[in-house]
Amino acid sequence: MADRREKIFREAADTLASRRNAVALTGAGISVESGIPAFRGTQGMWEKYDPMEYATIGAFLSDPEKVWAMLSEMVDVLSRAVPNPAHSGLAEMERMGVLRSVITQNVDGLHQAAGSQRVIEFHGNAWELICLSCWNRYPSREKIREGIPPRCECGTILKPNLVLFGEPIPWSAQEEAESEAQSCSVLLVIGTSAEVSPACHIPRLSKGKGAVIVEINPEETPLTRSVTDLHLREKAGDAVTLLLSSLREIS
Ligand code: OAD
Repeated sequence: MADRREKIFREAADTLASRRNAVALTGAGISVESGIPAFRGTQGMWEKYDPMEYATIGAFLSDPEKVWAMLSEMVDVLSRAVPNPAHSGLAEMERMGVLRSVITQNVDGLHQAAGSQRVIEFHGNAWELICLSCWNRYPSREKIREGIPPRCECGTILKPNLVLFGEPIPWSAQEEAESEAQSCSVLLVIGTSAEVSPACHIPRLSKGKGAVIVEINPEETPLTRSVTDLHLREKAGDAVTLLLSSLREIS
């Protein structure tokens, strides 16, 4: 078993070292070790709050105060989180010239905090608030300090600039992510259940263009037996740390 694990890690590291030009697609699982629970599963946000009741644009428009009950809890957890070895390992791979960019479904800003330069925020981020009446934008931290729900100067309740269910993916993020996915040689898929569209289609785009798909997840996902070439069945922090030390040995 230990041999098999070692072999898969070695193969993943060799692939990254020889092909370089890698892109990472990350989901909530990469931030679990930073203290942010994933959405699905027993500890998940969606166990406590039904996303169809609390996380759709329709819900926000009809009852923003109710949605802010969920959002304030989320922002509170995010504001205490710091990057973990998986975030900093990806930033190091970028500095080494192995990783080109990170496409993240996360809204926590931890990739940037860890030093990643090229981050595509597929679902927006939680650190900016936007007014859907006059389109003013505000930094979240300051506004939230004034009270929940935070309000625009015009009196409207503000929305975090993240994608709620029923909202489109920001156009530039969608375009950039597709271009990155179609031109990379290796796609590292880390900590996503691959259940939410359109992000879950990104690995297939890469695979269709010949990329090797390396999945890091302690569990299997719908990708594992369909598009994944190498499944590193580990927590993100351990897997990225091990990959990085193999990469350092090789190069
Ligand atoms: P999920 O909560 O659906 O999935 C998290 C994945 O991370 C699962 O497959 C876990 O097995 C895995 N995981 C858990 N701990 C891990 C660890 N330490 N290391 C690596 N993997 C681990 O989160 P996402 O796939 O990101 O969208 O969810 C996608 C989207 O659904 C989110 O961006 C959000 C949510 O609703 C919106 O809000 C629009």
